[in-house]
Amino acid sequence: MRHSWSFALRSALTWSPPAWIRPRAKAWFLAQLDEAGRRRFEHLEQGADTHHWPERCDEQAWRESAYVLDVLRRYAPAELPDGHALDVGSKNGCYAPGLYAARAVPWTLVEVDAHRRYWWGSTRRAHGEAMVRGLGGSTFVAGDVRALTGRFTLVTWFLPFLTAVPLEAWGLPAALLQPRALLEHVLGLVVPGGALLIVNQGEQEAALQAQLLDGLGVHSTALGAVTSALSPFKKPRFGFLVRT
Ligand SMILES: C[S@@+](CC[C@H](N)C(=O)[O-])C[C@H]1O[C@@H](n2cnc3c(N)ncnc32)[C@H](O)[C@@H]1O
Repeated sequence: MRHSWSFALRSALTWSPPAWIRPRAKAWFLAQLDEAGRRRFEHLEQGADTHHWPERCDEQAWRESAYVLDVLRRYAPAELPDGHALDVGSKNGCYAPGLYAARAVPWTLVEVDAHRRYWWGSTRRAHGEAMVRGLGGSTFVAGDVRALTGRFTLVTWFLPFLTAVPLEAWGLPAALLQPRALLEHVLGLVVPGGALLIVNQGEQEAALQAQLLDGLGVHSTALGAVTSALSPFKKPRFGFLVRT
């Protein structure tokens, strides 16, 4: 029952005022980085279109977009069929610019808790929609990934919930803890020749993720530690790549 009512209530109250985003200049972001981060970002920028970031990226969006761009460049396959891409569990869409800079195709960002509100009244959905605007037909979908029916060439999945503790910490009801069913559904959304990139937090989650993939008989490549000079995160992360 924990979180069920509050989740149901906020999911029913969908109206939102427009997003309130306080963009930051590129010079501000560069000043936050250490030397290795600055060098890596400058290198990434040479092969990616980031010109619109200063108009839409607040602090969180700069940090997470730069990180996601780096992770996709390093760990996602360069050769993929043409077609749409999907990010699962996108919270407020803050790293959409990073996804699009890494792969300039229409992205679908899906988030089940999209009507969660900021203290100033607008929702993650409003924020996510503002973040994807103008990104080549990308969309932010408020809903459960299991309701999605499209097919995607690349699917990214940062920090799927595999245990109750993080799910509860994010204020979500226990009924949403369905790691196996979600993974099966998400795998079915990837086109033949496509790829699913999963990033987990901590060794314990990575071990659970490996078990889950093995249990479904899915052949995956364990990428080991997913590192980035642009990571704003303290806990170690680990990756898995599934080619379909
Ligand atoms: C640990 S958070 C990670 C958020 C984001 N990917 C990141 O890296 O910061 C997991 C996210 O997945 C979302 N989520 C959980 N179950 C989902 C589902 N069935 N469909 C869509 N989103 C889901 C949660 O609401 C939450 O925003």
